[in-house]
Amino acid sequence: MIKLVYVSLLNLFRPNVTIMQQKLVVFTGAGISAESGIPTFRDANGMWGKYDAMKLASVEGFGEDPQAVLDFYNARRKNLLEVEPNHAHRVLADLEKQYDVTVITQNVDNLHERAGSSKVIHLHGELTKVTSSRNRLDPNCIKEYPLDVPIRLGDKVADGSQLRPYIVWFGEYVDNMELAIRLVKQADIFVVIGTSLVVYPAAGLVNYAHREIPKFLIDPNDMKQGLPFGFQHIKMKAVEGVDELLRRLEGLKNAEVETSDELGSSLRDF
Ligand code: APR
Repeated sequence: MIKLVYVSLLNLFRPNVTIMQQKLVVFTGAGISAESGIPTFRDANGMWGKYDAMKLASVEGFGEDPQAVLDFYNARRKNLLEVEPNHAHRVLADLEKQYDVTVITQNVDNLHERAGSSKVIHLHGELTKVTSSRNRLDPNCIKEYPLDVPIRLGDKVADGSQLRPYIVWFGEYVDNMELAIRLVKQADIFVVIGTSLVVYPAAGLVNYAHREIPKFLIDPNDMKQGLPFGFQHIKMKAVEGVDELLRRLEGLKNAEVETSDELGSSLRDF
């Protein structure tokens, strides 16, 4: 409300100043990359239906069979060279023309960045990077690594330990969580795309968005744990769903301008 009054006063006194950019925070999961050809984890043909998550995505699994873990991630890293961002990734990047957009993603692919999104926070790591198996958060050991160069057993990092993928494995601390919570709390509009909301602490982000703000969830399926409170469910796949999202955002903007004009004219009459 305060922002609306500010906008009307702004319109009143300095009509040609553009509207302050609203903070649009988008929280994504594997579903947004599904139409780029990267399988999700828990859908019918999902990765965890074919592979054992605890064997391939945990510190214990890496300890027991490091070669199997490296083979799994080397294949996913290589596959990233064969896929492209889709329309959904591109629409989010394009929305930066109208909003202050931050993407918070659980995805370890780089499709948001390749689509042009300038503010992307990865909660579960990045396939394009490697790190230390002694201390994965050591900044001296985290580095970009060519996707077509396999991580091999015996490859060492600066601290002398075995090189590992820069991925947050099950049971590991999600170091970007505090930042993500802060950003969701500041959002003017919150959008969730393509996540089953079953993996914590990431899934808990939906509870930090302000209850008054517009909230949208794009997913062709129902949420196993029910639609989070206050969300509009756009029950579509991401590529189609983002166009519906654009329509609803346009509707919001028009409603705001109408209200601010009304306010503006009542202030003028005041
Ligand atoms: N468009 C939008 N959503 C889709 C699409 C699509 N084309 N296809 C599937 N979905 C939805 C599914 O209905 C499901 O709700 O995407 C969601 C995918 O859920 P998961 O496979 O559980 O993926 P995600 O929520 O991202 O997993 C979270 O779990 O395995 C770990 O670390 C991994 O980051 C991952 C985390």
